[in-house]
Amino acid sequence: EKGGFEHFMLKEIYEQPKVIKDTMSCRIASDGEQIQFEELNWTPEDVKSIGKIMIVACGTAYHAGLLAKYFIEKLARIPVEVDIASEYRYRDPLTDSKTLCIVISQSGETIDTLAALKEAKRRGARSLAITNVVGSSVSREADQVVYTWAGPEIAVASTKAYTTQLVALLLLALYMGRLNGHLTADREAQVIRDLQRVPDQCRNIFDHAGDIKELAAKIKEKEDIFFIGRSMDYGLAMEGALKLKEISYIHAEAYAGGELKHGTLALIISGVPVIALATQQDVEEKMISNIKEVKARDAYVIGVVQEGDTEVRKTIDSVITIPRSDNFVLPIMTVIPLQLLAYYTAVVRGNDVDKPRNLAKSVTVE
Ligand code: F6R
Repeated sequence: EKGGFEHFMLKEIYEQPKVIKDTMSCRIASDGEQIQFEELNWTPEDVKSIGKIMIVACGTAYHAGLLAKYFIEKLARIPVEVDIASEYRYRDPLTDSKTLCIVISQSGETIDTLAALKEAKRRGARSLAITNVVGSSVSREADQVVYTWAGPEIAVASTKAYTTQLVALLLLALYMGRLNGHLTADREAQVIRDLQRVPDQCRNIFDHAGDIKELAAKIKEKEDIFFIGRSMDYGLAMEGALKLKEISYIHAEAYAGGELKHGTLALIISGVPVIALATQQDVEEKMISNIKEVKARDAYVIGVVQEGDTEVRKTIDSVITIPRSDNFVLPIMTVIPLQLLAYYTAVVRGNDVDKPRNLAKSVTVE
């Protein structure tokens, strides 16, 4: 059942090219130029009437929501708030009939996410669920559903569910951007073209799995690891840190590059690993300054960069490269080495990778 892999987590990481394709192919029109969501069938007016989008989720699904804020705000120019479901529920949220509430949940059974969805509906919001499980509680409660066709995810640490959530959310942002007139047909077609290359490009990343395994051996004895990034790479830093914590049990923290100086830099001492995500061109120069700040304290920096990068590479100790792609498409691939790093680190530490201590796959109690 593990298809020849040592753990479900590794199998699920390697399934990503296929499931990413499954999630997008049914939503790309046959001419390859436009996104269509038959299950939504929205009109331009449906999108124009959205005053604000409220994204609510837990854990890894929440991290997908953080990226979706960039996708939707940049491509469709609709304001997006992202909240942790257990916080949203109890803060008397500003949600009304002009709000579209998007809940994201792999299992569709997470109690806080389900309760947050009910709360948003009670306040008059329209609702949309992004979920992986057909017929799940969340899918039944929401007005509309977009399924991520990731197939069953067995490992507690979420991998393919997250990447397919990113795909579904990016497609949704493109769809909304076209319907409300903020996105040109050319730009939409361009992002779609890069999306369609992702499944093949993922295999490229897998070709370097051996290098990532070596990096895991280097960090395995460390007590603290930092992930830094800016813009979408910051959201990915949070996901990378969570993945590492939950299965390797090494303390990890994610920081927005620009926040280091405001406190965390005090923790950067000789030999502390810093995973610096620097794939986003528009903030590259700023990331390079942040990398220099930690290098000046003698941190051990593993940089994650786009293929062909020449500048970031000059400032780091080890490099992981991601195939070149559109800014919005990159995160779907950038997370994969972070998943592999967490996986191999957990394996060398002898942990129960698929069933990490104290955690359950689906959190149905508060
Ligand atoms: C982390 C992980 C959890 C889940 C969270 C939400 O790897 O799997 O953080 O993402 O418990 O679960 P769902 O998406 O089922 O609502």
